[in-house]
Amino acid sequence: MRNEISRLFREEVLRASPYHVGSAPAIRVKLNQNENPRALLPPTENLGGIVSRVEPNRYPSEQPDDLRLALADYAGVPPEWILVTHGSNEFVHSLCLSFIERGRCALIPSPAFSLFRNSVHLFGGDVVEVEATASFDIPVEEFARTAASAKPHLVILPCPNNPTGRDLSLSEIESIVKSTEGMVVVDEAYWEFTARPSAISLLHRYDNLIVMRTLSKAFGLAGIRVGYAVCNPDVAAELLKVRLPFMVSRFDAAIAIDVLRRPEAVQTAASELRIAQAQLAGELASMRGVSVVPSDTNFVLFTTPLGSRDVLDGLAARGVLVRDMSGYPRLRGFLRVNAGTEQENRDFLTALQAVLAD
Ligand SMILES: Cc1ncc(COP(=O)(O)O)c(C=O)c1O
Repeated sequence: MRNEISRLFREEVLRASPYHVGSAPAIRVKLNQNENPRALLPPTENLGGIVSRVEPNRYPSEQPDDLRLALADYAGVPPEWILVTHGSNEFVHSLCLSFIERGRCALIPSPAFSLFRNSVHLFGGDVVEVEATASFDIPVEEFARTAASAKPHLVILPCPNNPTGRDLSLSEIESIVKSTEGMVVVDEAYWEFTARPSAISLLHRYDNLIVMRTLSKAFGLAGIRVGYAVCNPDVAAELLKVRLPFMVSRFDAAIAIDVLRRPEAVQTAASELRIAQAQLAGELASMRGVSVVPSDTNFVLFTTPLGSRDVLDGLAARGVLVRDMSGYPRLRGFLRVNAGTEQENRDFLTALQAVLAD
């Protein structure tokens, strides 16, 4: 870009990189973004009704009341404790806009979902990282000590974590919340796959806590972009000030409400995916030279005796897409695969066996 043009951009923007997932031609089996292989869509006969009721000529409200109510019901809190978001990625920007500026820092475990770090930098903040242990767990005591000493304004605690798949116990989460005066955001994107009580149960004791959730994983709605935060109403009132109006479309809200009214379907889908993930991890671990990180989610992090790029390309050539995690310094050689349908999991395992035998 010409110099005169690039100088118009903020330094943080020029330094940043775009979020890039990568794709491959002719993919039949897509297991690279921790999605639910099945949308939990309303029955086809209801979809027509939803489409005809949405009134696309009217703006939605910033916090659609009926969606807020349905989310509150699902999360077991009063509606004032719910903030509807356009998915967690968007909400991370709202968090940074609220808590981060030059001279402030955020505390994040490493490795963790790269968007956290990138967003903090984009808003001019510094990132303090605490390295995971050899088993990829967040070292709770060290993390809490750093939270106390580094004085972060924002602490992002993904539980379970992506890309490691490792979770913390509720008491470990609480000990971190207690250790800091910063705002702790527990990212429970994969919570439905765990057996742990939600950090929502801590909210009545700690004002410096926000629980961030999404309908992109267990709910199978990554394509419609709906998430939510659960927090003290005073915190929600401040966060509302930084949000752009009308981020959740009427159509997205209507679909989300329909699925939220069927929590048993979500629970069944989550436990089926958990079982599929455990089988996938077991099959992977039984392959020669393959090692697997135990996971509390719908995905598995693993290594093979080959380079991760070669495995990625070999699988792609056989129509299977997984994620190469080598961009994370600690994860050179690692790949991540999420549980798909039974057939997709079989296709992935067969393709991997062929790649490793080549
Ligand atoms: C830990 C974690 N948080 C948040 C997200 C993003 O969720 P959303 O689709 O709601 O933006 C992801 C997506 O992969 C994730 O892994």
